[in-house]
Amino acid sequence: MKINRYQDISEIDREAKKDYIDRHSAFVHCEANATAGEKFKVKVQVGDEYKHPDDADHYISYVQLWNGEKMLAQATFIEGAMGNAPANLEVDFYIVPSKNMKLIAHAYCTKHGLWQSNEVAVEVK
Ligand SMILES: [Fe+2]
Repeated sequence: MKINRYQDISEIDREAKKDYIDRHSAFVHCEANATAGEKFKVKVQVGDEYKHPDDADHYISYVQLWNGEKMLAQATFIEGAMGNAPANLEVDFYIVPSKNMKLIAHAYCTKHGLWQSNEVAVEVK
């Protein structure tokens, strides 16, 4: 499967392209430091400045959290979960780290495929 990677939309001129990239991109939000063996919250949001549709034939159907090449967790959605209105889908994952992590999120759009976030490094002590 082709993976679309995040591009900084401030470097893109065309409004329609900014919207297209932003609304599909997954963003990882978490603290930069974690404690080994303790619960750690990682929020994944799809889209930052632009919302993605939630239509019967076009919606975000899953969000995954990866540590490097290992998938840690996945949340699955059906159409209508966002009220059939454009939204920034959010998922809070709680994981328990044991060593440093390189977190990546994936979001899958039923029409526009798989999108990968930037990598976020977390130092675990
Ligand atoms: Fe889409």
